[in-house]
Amino acid sequence: MGKQSQYVSRQPDENGIIDWSDEENAVWRDLVARQLKHIPGKACDEYIHGLELLDLPQDRIPQLHEINQVLEATTGWQVAQVPALIPFDEFFRLLANKQFPVATFIRTREEFDYLQEPDIFHEIFGHCPLLTNPAFAHFTHQYGKLGLDATPKERVYLARLYWFTVEFGLLKTADGLRIYGGGILSSPGETEYAINSDKPERKPLVPLDALRTPYRIDIMQPIYYTIESTDKLFEIADLDIMALVREAMELGLFEPKFPPKDAA
Ligand SMILES: [Fe+2]
Repeated sequence: MGKQSQYVSRQPDENGIIDWSDEENAVWRDLVARQLKHIPGKACDEYIHGLELLDLPQDRIPQLHEINQVLEATTGWQVAQVPALIPFDEFFRLLANKQFPVATFIRTREEFDYLQEPDIFHEIFGHCPLLTNPAFAHFTHQYGKLGLDATPKERVYLARLYWFTVEFGLLKTADGLRIYGGGILSSPGETEYAINSDKPERKPLVPLDALRTPYRIDIMQPIYYTIESTDKLFEIADLDIMALVREAMELGLFEPKFPPKDAA
């Protein structure tokens, strides 16, 4: 956000339909096929359940109205078509209104494995299954409302809580570690690494700690925070998060667990 994107969102026609090209549909097909092989035993049950409800097409990019039917019936959320990059104000306004922004472009094959800009595969395949989950949906809604009223500096802190939950959160279940973060679930490499690698640290989520943990968006995460079940997100959403943000601002950030960007 705030910087230039090489991507431009595709515009829907007057009926809200986007005319995706064969190549764009083929990229979706290949991304979905690859990721479906990686998620069994790694994605959380809530995600798998959401994926079943969404019943995403595997051979073409879904239209947003198809996603909306399922979200509407489960948690009352919607997806909203947006340009590749939107201002923070707009981002929070949409979430506060239970609208999940989806930039309607899909990555090129040159960036098949990882891109920093969230494309439609990341938003729909990564996040929308969990948006059918009431706890996740409530937390995301609450985050949007808080962010809308927050100062720019408070938003930077808030963003870390979002990062370590919605984007890169793990569950520690009786059956083992499971993923609910959409940043992981839309990346085959990180799906494997987050669950099976012994490199990253994994710690129980303490919201104040997450607010104080720096992150980089262009590397595999050196630390993940775990919660026991998605229901924990109900509890976190009902904390006085802004009081925690102010506390985090006073205490300052933890030492990064990664090298500075220039040295990497
Ligand atoms: Fe995301």
